[in-house]
Amino acid sequence: MKKATMILDRDFSIGRIDPRIYGSFIEHLGRAVYGGIYEPTHPTADKNGFRRDVMEMVKKLDVPVVRYPGGNFVSGFNWEDSVGPRSERPRRLDLAWFTTETNEVGLHEFADWCKEANTELMYAVNLGSRGPDAARNIVEYANHKGGTYWSDLRIKNGAKDPFGIKLWCLGNEMDGPWQMCHKTAKEYGSVAREAGKMMKWVDPSIELVACGSSAYDMPTFGTWEYEMLTECYDEIDYVSLHRYYGNRTNNTPDFLARNMDLDGFIKTVVSICDAVGGTKHSKKKINLSFDEWNVWYHSNEQDEELKKKDRWSVALPLLEDIYNFEDALLVGAMLITFLRNSDRVKVACMAQLVNVIAPIMTRNGGGVWAQTIYWPLMHASKYGRGTALRPVVKSPTYDCSDYEQVPFVDATAVQGDNGEVTIFAVNRSLDEDIMLESDLRGFGDLEIVEHIVLHHDDVKAINTETNPDNVAPAKGNGGTVDGGMLNVPLGKLSWNVIRLAKK
Ligand code: AHR
Repeated sequence: MKKATMILDRDFSIGRIDPRIYGSFIEHLGRAVYGGIYEPTHPTADKNGFRRDVMEMVKKLDVPVVRYPGGNFVSGFNWEDSVGPRSERPRRLDLAWFTTETNEVGLHEFADWCKEANTELMYAVNLGSRGPDAARNIVEYANHKGGTYWSDLRIKNGAKDPFGIKLWCLGNEMDGPWQMCHKTAKEYGSVAREAGKMMKWVDPSIELVACGSSAYDMPTFGTWEYEMLTECYDEIDYVSLHRYYGNRTNNTPDFLARNMDLDGFIKTVVSICDAVGGTKHSKKKINLSFDEWNVWYHSNEQDEELKKKDRWSVALPLLEDIYNFEDALLVGAMLITFLRNSDRVKVACMAQLVNVIAPIMTRNGGGVWAQTIYWPLMHASKYGRGTALRPVVKSPTYDCSDYEQVPFVDATAVQGDNGEVTIFAVNRSLDEDIMLESDLRGFGDLEIVEHIVLHHDDVKAINTETNPDNVAPAKGNGGTVDGGMLNVPLGKLSWNVIRLAKK
């Protein structure tokens, strides 16, 4: 059997992992809200109309933060439409997705849902069709105690206590021509600066995310970050990154190497942030909010048809990618990349949470099930808390059309607060098991508590409502720790979680 080695030392760490890297995203898009988290006629609906079966699946993911309400949607959204008596809320055309938004679920309802889901709300303001004035007003509405027009309106609308929203996105993908009121980097940077300044004057405790490029391959990537940051560096805390991958050429080895692109993207944005900081002689570091990431391509063609056929309908089933096993492997590899860059990546939101390019799927009036990608996210969120270690991994490699020397084994490790160590590893080899060997003597006397494996013989295998466990985690075939030396066989094409604890 081929062998990969991982050098680990408990003093060799990247730093404390911000749990918000296991965040998610819900946009007023497709069936994410209506028919996803919310379906008042569903047998499991609670008194607020939220599906309890979906809530249970969300809770198992232990999502620390959820970005809301968009996405592209937010660039034409009037936040005021979404508060106050439901019967008076306007129905509006959503020009992002060519559907109708009923505003039946709005800020108060979603804040209640977040409370129940034990998650923090990350709110995006509209810097497309609206601007700094609407942005500072919603901070006052959501976070100010009372005694002013907007805060008293919140109280009148039923929320005596402020929502206390800490993390705010200054618009969404403003570099993209598809965005309502798309801007140049300089225009956006200046609007973000003024909006951010006013928002922080209302509540100095908030944190702000400015829009980076909507993708690494945008023609303006790089200059957008540099010029935008030059305008608003002092006012903001994070730059956003968005990235989606697809296996469009049906080439699994290529597809599974895509997190190398992700790593390059992150490192380049970090360099640009630091370069701008350098020109400003600033002591401040701008960190990254990777607030949209996933695999997204399965539903693209179908969506074009749907948008033509059912324009302006409510909760059109858009972006309903059905994920297969190879998608789950790439998602695992992407999570490993976030952990390895967790000194600068402080927030990451899988896009999205329910039905829309999502780990959780529902049928209206019917069941809920976990897509393949649910599992690596759940494992990382559950066991990837504490300190990210900085391993040196040596693995046999392969060449594919996009990359040379792709390691078959991609792996990283996390040390928990009680001395436990968890290794996350993907074996990208299509046909060979690989032995992972690691010297753990520096951690004291560790033993394997559990080896969890996600594998399927068919890379295109999916989960469905009637076959929800087709791709599901299983017990690995063991491994040993002998005299502090770990040896674990990583099956071909597998996602592995190796949990170790003190004897
Ligand atoms: O997550 C789906 C869409 O992808 C979001 O609305 C947008 O920000 C991105 O292009």
